[in-house]
Amino acid sequence: MEINKICVLGAGVMGHGIAQVCAQAGYQVNLRDIRDELVESGIGKIRQFLAGSVERQKMSQMEADNILGRIRGMTDLAEAVRDVDLVIEAIVEDINVKKDVFRELDRLCREDTIFASNTSAQSITEMAMATKRPQKFIGMHWFNPPQLMRGIEVIVHDRTSRETLETMVELCKKLGREPGVCKDSPGFIVNRLLQIWYNEGLNMFDEGVAEPRDIDTALKAAYSFRMGPFELRDMVGLDVALASTSTHYRELMREQFKPPRCLIMKVKAGELGRKTERGFYEYQPRGG
Ligand SMILES: NC(=O)c1ccc[n+]([C@@H]2O[C@H](COP(=O)([O-])OP(=O)(O)OC[C@H]3O[C@@H](n4cnc5c(N)ncnc54)[C@H](O)[C@@H]3O)[C@@H](O)[C@H]2O)c1
Repeated sequence: MEINKICVLGAGVMGHGIAQVCAQAGYQVNLRDIRDELVESGIGKIRQFLAGSVERQKMSQMEADNILGRIRGMTDLAEAVRDVDLVIEAIVEDINVKKDVFRELDRLCREDTIFASNTSAQSITEMAMATKRPQKFIGMHWFNPPQLMRGIEVIVHDRTSRETLETMVELCKKLGREPGVCKDSPGFIVNRLLQIWYNEGLNMFDEGVAEPRDIDTALKAAYSFRMGPFELRDMVGLDVALASTSTHYRELMREQFKPPRCLIMKVKAGELGRKTERGFYEYQPRGG
């Protein structure tokens, strides 16, 4: 199936970046969030990113304008999904909210529209079975920030059709990304492995072994990691991180995935990382 027009649901940390990558590859994109200011904030971040690229002479002003011209921001769900070939969902990491949204989409979208979820840790199977089109349902797991990270996990469940899989693998390539295909299982490939590493760093802080800055610095200096576990958690969003490790813990039943206390306490305090300007570290208002 050919993809021409895409709707991205959620203009947050991931959604706005996904919309930008799709528009950069030439696709028409509707970017939908629940309130005007959230849509505007997402589009503002895309504008800022593109302005930086123009400044660094990575693209011309005309190219940047054309990319922005292909993105339409909106809050009306029916309008956002009208006549789209693919919906990429990047809303809150809550399985019940996601299932409700997909049920609604099932009603509003064309029968052949593909649904893709960017969930980090929820079950693709469970979401697919909440719709009447499980064969057209797939996971499309991007990495943060989507504009820079080249990998995408494409996740199939038992009833995903071969055509849907092939369409999505092809799309990833057209977006300049490298797809890794796997079956629906907690954490898919990358997060399942990384989760253990993140948690052990946070456990060391809880045990008073070392401070976040020292743990991050040691790893970066020793093994040339680009970021340490605390920097990465802050970038991802601590609420998203807590939801993700909690799901692994519940479903894989292994101690390595037990949420560290410092992560739970940060989320309770509303200190969610870069997006709230405070997490394990403090940030300037524009994320600097
Ligand atoms: N943050 C990451 O590093 C990361 C990486 C990979 C995958 N993910 C996944 O991507 C999804 C989004 O994560 P995020 O970090 O962008 O979250 P976020 O909180 O930054 O953004 C979510 C956005 O979705 C909006 N939203 C909520 N309900 C909506 C609805 N019904 N329709 C449209 N928009 C709605 C919210 O208003 C918010 O702006 C989650 O499933 C998360 O697990 C996150």
